[in-house]
Amino acid sequence: MEIRKVGVIGCGLMGGGIAQTCAQAGYTTLVREINQELLDKGLARIDAAWQKMESKGKLTAQQAAETRERLRGTINLEDLADCDVIIEAVIENMEEKLRLYPMLDRLLKPEALLLSNTSSLSVTQMGAVTRRPDKVAGLHFFNPAPVMQLVEIVRTISTSDETIETVQQFARSLGKTPVLAKDTAGFIVNFLLIPYLISAVRMLENGVASRDDIDTAMKLGCGYPMGPFTLLDYVGLDTTLWAAEAIYDEYKDPLYAPPPLLRRMVQSGYYGKKSGKGFYDYQ
Ligand code: CAA
Repeated sequence: MEIRKVGVIGCGLMGGGIAQTCAQAGYTTLVREINQELLDKGLARIDAAWQKMESKGKLTAQQAAETRERLRGTINLEDLADCDVIIEAVIENMEEKLRLYPMLDRLLKPEALLLSNTSSLSVTQMGAVTRRPDKVAGLHFFNPAPVMQLVEIVRTISTSDETIETVQQFARSLGKTPVLAKDTAGFIVNFLLIPYLISAVRMLENGVASRDDIDTAMKLGCGYPMGPFTLLDYVGLDTTLWAAEAIYDEYKDPLYAPPPLLRRMVQSGYYGKKSGKGFYDYQ
């Protein structure tokens, strides 16, 4: 199946980055948000990234104009009806996803693929509420989506070989390197990354070392581009908490039990960079 038009649902940090990536790769891209204010904010963030790329000479003025031309925003789900593939990047809430998937299933042409950017929820459950579970898979991007090379392709027990092949080709056409994982909570990356991040929170809670020393230790001792607290703020404390809870729910392994400090920070609206406050201040 040939993919020409991509629909992205959600224009937050991840949805916006994914829409940017698809438009840059030459796809006609339509991104949908739930209201005009969120849509304008998301599109402005993408435009700022393109301006920066232009000023650095990574895009010529003509390429930037053509790329902008390929991306459109909407607040109407119906406008996505003629998309060949949908990448869903809405809030990590299963109820929300289970409400959305049957609507998309009714709206889209029968051959269209439905891909979720979920980082830890069950893609199988999303596929099961559609009449096309063979065409439902996970396509998990990493923040910042236009820069990070990896995508995880998540295969459920119902996803067809043909769908996986098409998604692999699509991922490569976006300039990404795909890896394939089964639909188990956390897939590959978060199954390994979440215990690391929440162990850092526990270390801080227990007074083992300071925030700055833990960040410095992992940056300079292991060559990581960011220390765990900088990364937690970057990924989002809310996203990290949801991912930890989802993996904990599946395995009941204490390694994934969210530490109280992480939960209290999220309860206080400290989501990290996106809310202006997390382990660091961004105002
Ligand atoms: N669009 C286009 N380009 C972008 C961009 C965007 N949205 N964001 C950053 N860039 C570009 C910058 O312009 C810069 O380009 P040049 O090298 O040409 O100057 C390049 O990316 C690097 O950015 P910076 O110079 O600003 O900063 P940096 O060198 O410190 O790199 C980083 C930033 C790429 C984010 C790096 O710190 C990094 O790799 N951090 C780790 C990120 C990570 O681990 N992400 C995964 C999180 S887990 C996740 O997302 C999944 C989940 O489910 C929780």
